[in-house]
Amino acid sequence: MTHPTGYSRTQIGLHWAVAALVAGQYIFKDSISGAWEAIRAGQDFAFDPLILAHVAGGALILAFVLWRLVLRLKRGVPLQPENEPAPLKTLSHFAHWAFYAVLALMSVSGSLAWFGDVTAAAQVHNVLKVVLLALVALHVLAVPFHKIVLKNNVLARMIRPAH
Ligand code: HEM
Ligand code: HEM
Repeated sequence: MTHPTGYSRTQIGLHWAVAALVAGQYIFKDSISGAWEAIRAGQDFAFDPLILAHVAGGALILAFVLWRLVLRLKRGVPLQPENEPAPLKTLSHFAHWAFYAVLALMSVSGSLAWFGDVTAAAQVHNVLKVVLLALVALHVLAVPFHKIVLKNNVLARMIRPAH
């Protein structure tokens, strides 16, 4: 696989778009959770645009994740910082791939629950939401860790595109 000197404008745009969309999925989750509970209890639920937003947001996240994967395979991503200890290189490699997998599985499990009425899929969705939060926490903590301990500025790589 080739290794460009940095992330492209599109890769950076997609990264922050997915981050914002994921935050929205958590902040505005109550409407779809309420509707799901009502369905489970055999009750009706009132139309709420935030339910639609959760479904559409999830679909958009899946599309962006697939787009990012294509870019990752076609264009490649920059090498990890040279002074990163080998175990951390492995951890970050694993965490980045886990993001792609968990985000895709979130969208698939949510869709199976909502459109297919599969209760087990909702359970998977609920477990994965915790896994995703843990990944985000690890990922965000890695930023100051890189800056303070390893003294390299990885955040800049996700802000300034490489030419
Ligand atoms: C990556 C995309 C997604 C993320 C991050 C996400 C996140 C969440 C979160 C945080 C909840 C709240 C669970 C709770 O009550 O604590 C939730 C619930 C739910 N989501 Fe998603 N979701 C995504 C995609 C989707 C999609 C595409 C659909 C449907 C087409 C969907 C359908 C549902 C349903 C039915 C619930 C209620 C399940 C329950 O409360 O047990 N989600 N989602
Ligand atoms: C749900 C939110 C997020 C997701 C799903 C996510 C996902 C990812 C993924 C998959 C990569 C690896 C890119 C690749 O090599 O393919 C990445 C890189 C990166 N992310 Fe995030 N991210 C999120 C939020 C954040 C936030 C909030 C920050 C900063 C505070 C951040 C900072 C970075 C940085 C600096 C990199 C580049 C690492 C490098 O230099 O290789 N991310 N992110």
